[in-house]
Amino acid sequence: MNALVKEVIMESNNKRVHLPVMLDEVMEYLALKEGDVVLDCTMGMGGHSERILEAILPGGKLIGIDRDEKSIQEAQRNFSRFKDGFYLFQDNFVNLKKILSSLSITKVDAILFDLGMSSYQLGSGRGFSFQEDCFLDMRMDEREKLTAYDIVNYYSEKELSKIIRDFGEERYHFRIAHAIANQRREKVIETTKELVEVILRAIPYSYLRQRIHPATRTFQALRIAVNRELENLKTVLGDAIDVLLPNGKIAVISFHSLEDRIVKRTFRDYKQTGHFEILTPKPVGPAELEVKVNPKARSGKLRVGKKLKNGHTNLLLKIFML
Ligand SMILES: C[S@@+](CC[C@H](N)C(=O)[O-])C[C@H]1O[C@@H](n2cnc3c(N)ncnc32)[C@H](O)[C@@H]1O
Repeated sequence: MNALVKEVIMESNNKRVHLPVMLDEVMEYLALKEGDVVLDCTMGMGGHSERILEAILPGGKLIGIDRDEKSIQEAQRNFSRFKDGFYLFQDNFVNLKKILSSLSITKVDAILFDLGMSSYQLGSGRGFSFQEDCFLDMRMDEREKLTAYDIVNYYSEKELSKIIRDFGEERYHFRIAHAIANQRREKVIETTKELVEVILRAIPYSYLRQRIHPATRTFQALRIAVNRELENLKTVLGDAIDVLLPNGKIAVISFHSLEDRIVKRTFRDYKQTGHFEILTPKPVGPAELEVKVNPKARSGKLRVGKKLKNGHTNLLLKIFML
């Protein structure tokens, strides 16, 4: 049975299943074999990881990382048919070197990042979605302190406007930040529904008729700020490339231009060290059929690179940039 069709059947049986994006493309590029050691840095409920485990077992090892405790628990359940071969960590992927060293692993054959949030998180009642009415939380890792509520109610109007502009690429960032600042003088904004109402009142009438919901960009911006998504990505890519074995591959799926730009630039910089090859000169997008079945995949962009020689690429890059 086609992998995509199988996933869709799973989704209809269980509404919380997240459909792994560009699964076949990722597997084709990574070309895994039995015995490989693979790091899935954004494991979610394990959609990609399950296919990875099928490819590398017996003998291989999957190290799955996710910041979200509930996603880890779900993945653990989904992996019940595999007896061993996987190690799951609730952690930020920026700690990948520490995680590997706790397993006495120094190098891996492949690394995957599937950025953003999962459908599971979107429907988790934790404030990620403007379609649910719940507390403005948006933390992927609930052990962290900063919530979207804190940003919305306590950041200055100027800071808010910058976040909504930079992370949401929202043209009405001034108006939305101003409306939030006005509203919270009367009463704190506690829920997603209250925030959506403020946004709808702030934007021009014509904007209501656009293809995406007018709150989409502001919610995205807040989620990125709460979880420091861009900083984390910038920090981790060098370490990830560093821990690859020669011929090891790194695949990154991103969902908006800000993330994709970071990946593109990092890959380009590493290529200049002579130790890294870019396997996707242009980002790969999902096939038409996938977008039909899973419209959320539409904006996905896959970039893949390969480490050519061993060595400390991070250090080399620093020397090269001098
Ligand atoms: C798009 S989902 C991954 C879905 C997964 N590939 C699948 O197909 O089931 C992204 C996941 O990355 C996690 N995540 C985002 N930033 C992270 C970080 N800095 N460290 C660890 N996990 C992170 C989120 O919690 C989320 O579960």
